[in-house]
Amino acid sequence: MGKRAKISIIGAGNIGATAAHWAASKELGDIVLVDIVEGVPQGKGLDLFQAGPVEGFDSNITGTNDYEATADSDIVIITAGLPRKPGMSRDELLATNAKIVHECASQSAAKSPNAIIIVVSNPLDAMCTVAMRASGFPKNRVVGMAGILDTARYRAFLADAIGVSVEDIQALVLGGHGDAMVPLISYTTVSGIPVTQFLAKDKLDAIVKRTAGGGGEIVALLKSGSAYYAPSAAAVQMAEGILKDKKRLLPCAAYLEGEYGLSGLFVGVPVILGRDGIEKIVEVKLTEEENAALAKSAAGVKELVDKL
Ligand code: APR
Repeated sequence: MGKRAKISIIGAGNIGATAAHWAASKELGDIVLVDIVEGVPQGKGLDLFQAGPVEGFDSNITGTNDYEATADSDIVIITAGLPRKPGMSRDELLATNAKIVHECASQSAAKSPNAIIIVVSNPLDAMCTVAMRASGFPKNRVVGMAGILDTARYRAFLADAIGVSVEDIQALVLGGHGDAMVPLISYTTVSGIPVTQFLAKDKLDAIVKRTAGGGGEIVALLKSGSAYYAPSAAAVQMAEGILKDKKRLLPCAAYLEGEYGLSGLFVGVPVILGRDGIEKIVEVKLTEEENAALAKSAAGVKELVDKL
């Protein structure tokens, strides 16, 4: 038998620690939590490790302030950085988080040159560019978590409105991880049945709008900090798809080189995730309106990347 997979999570705050929790409960491998704050990753790591006997997972979970312990990770999940405050857009985090993500990606890449990096820090699409540049990794090994979260919000609202299981809603949300994201109604189904057979246009439009502002809704409620259960669950679903070579088709931020008419940018698109990371970018047919919305969303991402 081979040895366990190793997952390093950089940033042991709300998202990082909760990601460790999901990953441990799925027994995906050993987990290393890294943070700049002394004691916090160690304390959270030890606490989660001690949940193992109760929950029945065999994962070594450790916390550290030193990247040495992350050596030879299969997956590095970058969650370090400031979260939003009420009224703030994700884009306002650009300068602060670019510095942090640059440091985390370059330090992680030096210790784990073969890892796959999953970026969670915001503004997500621009932070993916930072992580790719800082790590020097090829484009298949840097992937951003946004689409699964946005889709999950959309699916949750739809399931609730229709009165069916969340498991039976399939959907795609494309574009940057911002208010200009592009939920694709034409690809939204309830177990294969077009969603338009369940909900009237005004109801759907309201759900699309709520989805786009879904992160902000939670920031406004929490007042200090931003969403973390669903974002961390989404990041761990990506890690699972990669580690188990599941070939999941999921919306993720991927570096585009001509796909969807876009180049040199990370934007949310459907990809196939397997042991090589992004194994394929899937190009789906879009309506004219959807294409225009995607172009607009990508233009917003480009503006941020140009500022880096
Ligand atoms: N290296 C390692 N960890 C760092 C660094 C760094 N250079 N800078 C900050 N951190 C740590 C903080 O000490 C903190 O523990 O990152 C953690 C961030 O945790 P939270 O403040 O709880 O934020 P969280 O909700 O987890 O969100 C993290 O993900 O979704 C995005 O917008 C969100 O950018 C934010 C990030």
